[in-house]
Amino acid sequence: MSTSLSAVIDLDLPGPRISRHVYGHFAEHLGRCIYGGFWVGEDSATPNVRGIRSDVVEALRAVRIPNLRWPGGCFADDYHWEDGIGPRDQRPRMVNSHWGDVVEDNSFGTHEFMDLCELLGADPYVSGNVGSGTVREMSDWVEYLTRADDSPMAARRRANGRDEPWRVPFWGLGNEAWGCGGNLRAEQFASLARQYATYTRDHGDNTVYRIAAGANADDYHWTETLMRSFDPLDEDDRPAGPYQALSLHYYTMTGPWSDKGDATRFTEDEWYRALSRAGRMETLLARHSTVMDRYDPQKKVGLVVDEWGTWWNVERGTNPGFLYQQNTLRDALVASLHFDAFHRHADRVVMANIAQTVNVLQAMILTDPESGALVLTPTYHVFAMNAGHHDADSLAVHLKGAPEIESDGRALPLVSASASTRGDTALVSLSNLDATRDHAVTLDLRGRTVSGARARVLTAPALAAHNTPEAPEAVTPVPFDDLRQVPDGLEIVLPAHSYLTVELELA
Ligand code: AHR
Repeated sequence: MSTSLSAVIDLDLPGPRISRHVYGHFAEHLGRCIYGGFWVGEDSATPNVRGIRSDVVEALRAVRIPNLRWPGGCFADDYHWEDGIGPRDQRPRMVNSHWGDVVEDNSFGTHEFMDLCELLGADPYVSGNVGSGTVREMSDWVEYLTRADDSPMAARRRANGRDEPWRVPFWGLGNEAWGCGGNLRAEQFASLARQYATYTRDHGDNTVYRIAAGANADDYHWTETLMRSFDPLDEDDRPAGPYQALSLHYYTMTGPWSDKGDATRFTEDEWYRALSRAGRMETLLARHSTVMDRYDPQKKVGLVVDEWGTWWNVERGTNPGFLYQQNTLRDALVASLHFDAFHRHADRVVMANIAQTVNVLQAMILTDPESGALVLTPTYHVFAMNAGHHDADSLAVHLKGAPEIESDGRALPLVSASASTRGDTALVSLSNLDATRDHAVTLDLRGRTVSGARARVLTAPALAAHNTPEAPEAVTPVPFDDLRQVPDGLEIVLPAHSYLTVELELA
C-alpha cells in the first residue's frame, strides 16, 4: 500500500457549476433498448404505465435522470417522425438497417417518447434527421411538439390526443454526420447545420438549444470547422448561433473495431488498457476546448458529449446488431473517470449522454428477455453515488504523489478524483484503478471546517464482477468506515479496484 498520496481541496474556492445534464442518457431504436427495455406495450404482463416499464422508470427516477436523447444515434438519420404518430396499428413500418436489419413498426414514437420523459421527469433531447430527412420535416417536428396555437402542426398533435404543447429544450442537428449520418465532410455539414438550425425554431416560450453533430474522438478539424462557421456574439454577448453547442462522441474499447474486447473475460492488462483509454476523455476535452476557445474565449458555446461509454464485443449468442453487453466493475470505473473529466471541464461541457440506458452498450439497466427481470449494473451505481454533483459547484482536486502504471502508451495515474460543493456540503469522488493494491489517500481539506463525513464504496472481489438476475447485488454500494480524522483532513484507505464517494458536512 502506498502512503504518500494526498488530495488537496480548497473547499472555499468553488469553480464552474457542474450541469446535472452531464448525467444524461441516450435511448436509441437499437436492439432491446426501446423495445423490451423501456417499452413493453400496454398489454404486457410486465407492470407498465401506458406501455412503459414501471421498474425502469422507477430506477431512473432514483438517479434523477436529467435528460434523455432519442431516437438515435445512427437511427435518427433514418427516422421520419411522421411514421411514429397516430393510431399505432396504422403506423408505417421501416427497416432498421443500422441495427440488426429488423423491421421497426414505429409503435414507440413521438407521443410515447414524450410520455416516457414526463414519467421520468427528464428533459427530452430530440435528435433530428439531417442525413436523410428534410428541413421541412425538422421544422414541422418542432412545431408539432412545441407550438400552442392552432397552427397546422399543433392541430395535428391535438388530433392525436395531446392538447398542450410539450417543452422540448434540446434538439440535435443530425448525428455522426461524418459517418452514418451522411458521410459528409466537415465543410458540407457546417453549412447544413446552419440551415437546419435556422428552421429549428423557438415557438412560444420553448427556447431551443441546438446541438450540431460534432466530432468523432480526436477529429479537431471537425470542431474547428463548426466553430469557424459560427456567427459572432450578438449585442447581448450571447452566441448568435445559429446553433448553441457542438457534440463529441468517444467510445472506450480495448481492441480494434473488429475485436473490441470482451465485457467480462479480460486480463489485468486489458483492465488497465480500458481505463487508460477511458482517461483519454480528459485529453479530448482539453484539446477540443482549446480549439473552441480560439473562437469563443468566453465559453458561450457548449460541448455536448452525447455518446460515451464502453463498447465491447456482443455477448455470445446474442444478435450482433443489438449491441448487448454485460457490465462489470471495470465499466463502473470507466464511468467514474469520465465524470471526473466532465467535472474538471464544467466550464465547457454542458451535457453528456451515456450510450445507452437499457440493454445496449454500457447500460445502466439490463432486462432479461425471458423472465423480464431487471438488473442494475455497476455503472448505474456510479450515477447514483454521484447524484450529489448535479448542479453543484466544482472544486479543483490537486492530487499529489499518485502512483502510475504504463498502459496503452501512456502513464495512467492509478487514483482519480473530483469534487463539488453545494451550501454546507461537499462531495468527493475517488477511484482506485489499481487492480491489486489498496492506496491510502489523505484528503487535505482547506478553507472550511469539516464537521462530518460519510462514505460509500463500490467494489467486489473480482475485477470482472457483475450483476445478474441470480446475483443482482454482486456489485452494489455499501457504507465505508475506513476513514480517519487527521489534523488537516481525512485519511482514507481506498481498497484495490474500487470507487468511493465521501460526503462532507461543512461547518
Ligand atoms: O450508440 C451506438 C451507435 O454508436 C450510435 O447509433 C452511433 O451514433 C454511434 O456510432
